[in-house]
Amino acid sequence: MSKKISKQQAKKEIQKLRKEINHHNYLYYVRNTPKISDQEYDNLFNQLKELENKFPEFKTSTSPTQKVGAAPQSEFKNIKHSMPMLSLSNAFNEKEVIDFDKKLKRILKKEKDIEYIAEPKFDGLAVELIYKNGIFTQGTTRGDGITGEDITENLKTIPSIPLKLRDKELKIPSLIEVRGEVYINKKDFEKLNKHREKKEQSTFANPRNAAAGSLRQLDPKITAKRPLNIFLYGIGNIKDKSFKTQSQILSVLPKWGLPVNKNVKICKNIHKTIDHYKKLNNMRENLPYEIDGMVIKVNNLKLQEKFGEISRSPRWAIAYKFQPLQAKTKIKKIIAQVGRTGALTPVAIMKPVKIGGVTISRSTLHNQNEIDKKDIRVNDTVIIQRAGDVIPEVVKPIKKNRTGKEKKYTLPDRCPICGAKVFKSEDQAVARCTNISCPAILKESIKHFCSKGAIDIEGMGDKIVEQLVEEKIIKDVADIYKIKRQDLLNLERFAEKSAQNLIDAIQKSKKTTLSRLIYALGIRHVGEHLARILSKNFPNLKSLQKTKEKDLLKIKEIGPEVAHSIINFFNEKQNEKLIDKLIKNGVTYRKKSKESNILSGKTFVFTGSLKNFTRNEAKEIVENLGGNASSSISSKTNFLVIGENPGSKYDKAKELETEIISEEDFRKLIK
Ligand code: IVH
Repeated sequence: MSKKISKQQAKKEIQKLRKEINHHNYLYYVRNTPKISDQEYDNLFNQLKELENKFPEFKTSTSPTQKVGAAPQSEFKNIKHSMPMLSLSNAFNEKEVIDFDKKLKRILKKEKDIEYIAEPKFDGLAVELIYKNGIFTQGTTRGDGITGEDITENLKTIPSIPLKLRDKELKIPSLIEVRGEVYINKKDFEKLNKHREKKEQSTFANPRNAAAGSLRQLDPKITAKRPLNIFLYGIGNIKDKSFKTQSQILSVLPKWGLPVNKNVKICKNIHKTIDHYKKLNNMRENLPYEIDGMVIKVNNLKLQEKFGEISRSPRWAIAYKFQPLQAKTKIKKIIAQVGRTGALTPVAIMKPVKIGGVTISRSTLHNQNEIDKKDIRVNDTVIIQRAGDVIPEVVKPIKKNRTGKEKKYTLPDRCPICGAKVFKSEDQAVARCTNISCPAILKESIKHFCSKGAIDIEGMGDKIVEQLVEEKIIKDVADIYKIKRQDLLNLERFAEKSAQNLIDAIQKSKKTTLSRLIYALGIRHVGEHLARILSKNFPNLKSLQKTKEKDLLKIKEIGPEVAHSIINFFNEKQNEKLIDKLIKNGVTYRKKSKESNILSGKTFVFTGSLKNFTRNEAKEIVENLGGNASSSISSKTNFLVIGENPGSKYDKAKELETEIISEEDFRKLIK
């Protein structure tokens, strides 16, 4: 558009283009019936961008061009939802679904059929969008259901979220809070991971993690580059409009330009609902996005209100979960991986196969015992499965497919990396390389030392550690503190800035805490929790080094196996030298000051992701304040702290009537 046009003409043209683009967005994202080609669309879009640049006085925040991402933020603000965002109870089989229906009928004191609406349960991240007078003003994550995070700028970059509601068919309410799930299509997820792999960035485990990671970026420009989508499935507050049924909500939202999913079904009674579950389950593999179950909701909103809710879940809805996804593939070979402690882990390398949008090509077989028990052989056709976040596992071989070419596998007698003899326990559960200077062990122990819960050196990724060891720049963890900028610049992929950043991170990590240092040493059986216990019981590393087995056994959490392992570790001359070298190279640690005991006798469990702490930091705080942090809920748990997207512990806590508190409550407690 090189022609000169007047301001008045430009204004008109801009308005016309916006209207046209918004209409095509609606046809594409809501109706799934695009009328123009991508190229024609890009043409319109570029024309608008050009005009807006020429006439910046006509720029508006709701223009369809405003989807590129605003300036980065330093943190997300916490926002309280005006109405809590509830979570769903789960059902895993038909009986539990029938019981759900029976319970509702009991409340109604009537045997009459209840009408349900069945919707796919999208496996993404729940969000709320607020539109005031039709303009998108705020968007938040679900958070713990009560408070979420302000991710408005990130949500604005999602192409299918309209910045302005459509008012062609139906009057726009002055206020509407809509709720839905942000997700990534399976195909886009694969593409994103491939791209990340190429750039040597870490890949996402599944589409849900990719969606969550993309939405929680402080820089909206990064979010803008991720292929995010949304399906809306409900409302919070609304003014000037009332609905009678959930199905009515789902048919009205698209009229305002809000995308909803089409695979929903009104079912006359619970039996028809269960029939639909079977159909949806069959469709699952072929849907472009991941679903992990079907949500059953009472369709009538008055009835919903009558049923109400119990501990943050509606009584009127339930998530009927699907079985984990399974697939058939072939084991090409089995390799032995050497870990930090020298343990050899058999890993099956398989013909790549897609399960629910994720390509799987390897799976741990745990140990020789497991291989023997399941009778897994090289060349076997096997069934593998993936359930949500769970790492893929080999379920069983399909024995009837055997051709005679299958070979039994036994872990080698010699380490595949250094050739040293492998020690095997009698029960075959452990096989370990006996060479303490095995390069594989060295690499893994350095990776462990640098990891987040340990010394935490930002930017010291696995590949860098491997290079540093291979180039013999470091021979033990203490050498990390002798790395020079020039050493890094000699390696592939380092430039001035990245080298300096890593040197800075290394320097920063020199100041640590006693518990982190103990954990970082990698003493067998001493995880983060035990490291914290030890740091509470010993004033410094020297006193721990000199301790006797019988004194260790006086500590409640420490049993004979752990005590033995600690004593063995410190008896090793080489380890003693290593600790001296670390201290000589400048590592210092804080000794615990006088501790408060305000959480004494209280046991905490955490679920979901926390905003202000990592899980380990939260546990560390609890233990430093005299409390206990546990990973599983039991009758002994005093508090369950819930973060974003709480897991099954939440349901268990409700069952056991454990006190459930939000992250905010937890912060108040520890203040
Ligand atoms: S309704 C009142 N509908 O499941 C019920 N949720 O555990 C609350 N989800 O946080 C939500 N698909 O992230 C509803 N069709 C759907 C859903 C759905 C996925 C997620 C959502 C929510 C979680 C509930």
